[in-house]
Amino acid sequence: MKSNTEKFGKTPHQPSLWTRADALKVRADDPTTTQPLVSANFPVLSDEVFIWDTMPLRDIDGNITSVDGWSVIFTLTADRHPNDPQYLDQNGNYDITRDWNDRHGRAKMYYWFSRTGKNWELGGRVMAEGVSPTVREWAGTPILLNEQGEVDLYYTAVTPGATIVKVRGRVVTTEHGVSLVGFEKVKPLFEADGKMYQTEAQNAFWGFRDPWPFRDPNDGKLYMLFEGNVAGERGSHKVGDAEIGDVPPGYEDVGNSRFQTACVGIAVARDEDGDDWEMLPPLLTAVGVNDQTERPHFVFQDGKYYLFTISHTFTYADGVTGPDGVYGFVADSLFGPYVPLNGSGLVLGNPSSQPFQTYSHCVMPNGLVTSFIDSVPTDETGTQIRIGGTEAPTVGIKIKGQQTFVVAEYDYGYIPPMLDVTLK
Ligand code: FRU
Repeated sequence: MKSNTEKFGKTPHQPSLWTRADALKVRADDPTTTQPLVSANFPVLSDEVFIWDTMPLRDIDGNITSVDGWSVIFTLTADRHPNDPQYLDQNGNYDITRDWNDRHGRAKMYYWFSRTGKNWELGGRVMAEGVSPTVREWAGTPILLNEQGEVDLYYTAVTPGATIVKVRGRVVTTEHGVSLVGFEKVKPLFEADGKMYQTEAQNAFWGFRDPWPFRDPNDGKLYMLFEGNVAGERGSHKVGDAEIGDVPPGYEDVGNSRFQTACVGIAVARDEDGDDWEMLPPLLTAVGVNDQTERPHFVFQDGKYYLFTISHTFTYADGVTGPDGVYGFVADSLFGPYVPLNGSGLVLGNPSSQPFQTYSHCVMPNGLVTSFIDSVPTDETGTQIRIGGTEAPTVGIKIKGQQTFVVAEYDYGYIPPMLDVTLK
């Protein structure tokens, strides 16, 4: 397996590395980077459906946008099956944990609306059954395009394969609520190429998903972030000095960490509509560190590029670890070099007493961080849990230079607009 320099050459950019040395700096339960405990008495958005990844409607510059005073969020969603014999345990009780764990296989995109940026009302499915070309509708980004209410929804069409796609529709408002119309023709954009980004043929556990398009505030061009793995056959990657970083004596053994190969991908649009994309080398790689850098997104602040991505404890490589949560990196220009925030990259992790309380954090430009509740312990030992499938309390963070600080906690699913667009 080639090194980054051999593989990607000298142009247009070198991927930045999240190294094992960086990850060794992760400190679980540091109060400045730990999400406050989520109570097991949380309210649920719906008894009918589970929701997880939440995608607030925004403009191409990243601003969370309401329309005619209505906030809109998109969520990955799956039916709850409390009465389905398939999800009953030996005692005839609903096995909600199994139902929840199976959700990815039947994920569909739904939308919700609100006047207050919380207490979301269910709008329904974004695309009718049969519109999306694959079984699973996985995460992406809805972009409000104009004052006519047109929306481009970028998302991931999964199983078979994993393709970054988009579908255009329109948001329509009345005094009483919001509906989405259109969203009838899904356009495939691109798939992993096997040269920069790992394909399913190279690794059955590959990741290629979660598009996040944006306009670069400096060069004005249209780009897209996505989650990937570094190309190459599974097991062929090298964890060398660069990937290890500057570790203390005794930390040179990388174990089987060559199997962890996450990267944050980037593509540039060849056209203004974002229908024609060219993949570029990854912005950031985590070879030997972690296998998943999911839902990458930016906050542009103080002339800097703050790159955030979510990751799990279970996807860390041998010899390094960290909590489930959101990690971040900062650079002075789009193509880096990126430096891990807080030294380690950890920005907001779950407390070790409730390691799965939340996930899929999205840092918004106003410093608010939304996520969903996964599971919260209901007894001291943590053996009994309550499954979430609903919005977590929003957390406020402050981003200062290369550091971040938890500074506030808000209501469940609080996603206030940063600007309002009056539709014509
Ligand atoms: C994050 C995630 C995304 C993916 C979706 C699948 O929670 O793993 O990367 O699109 O969930 O359910």
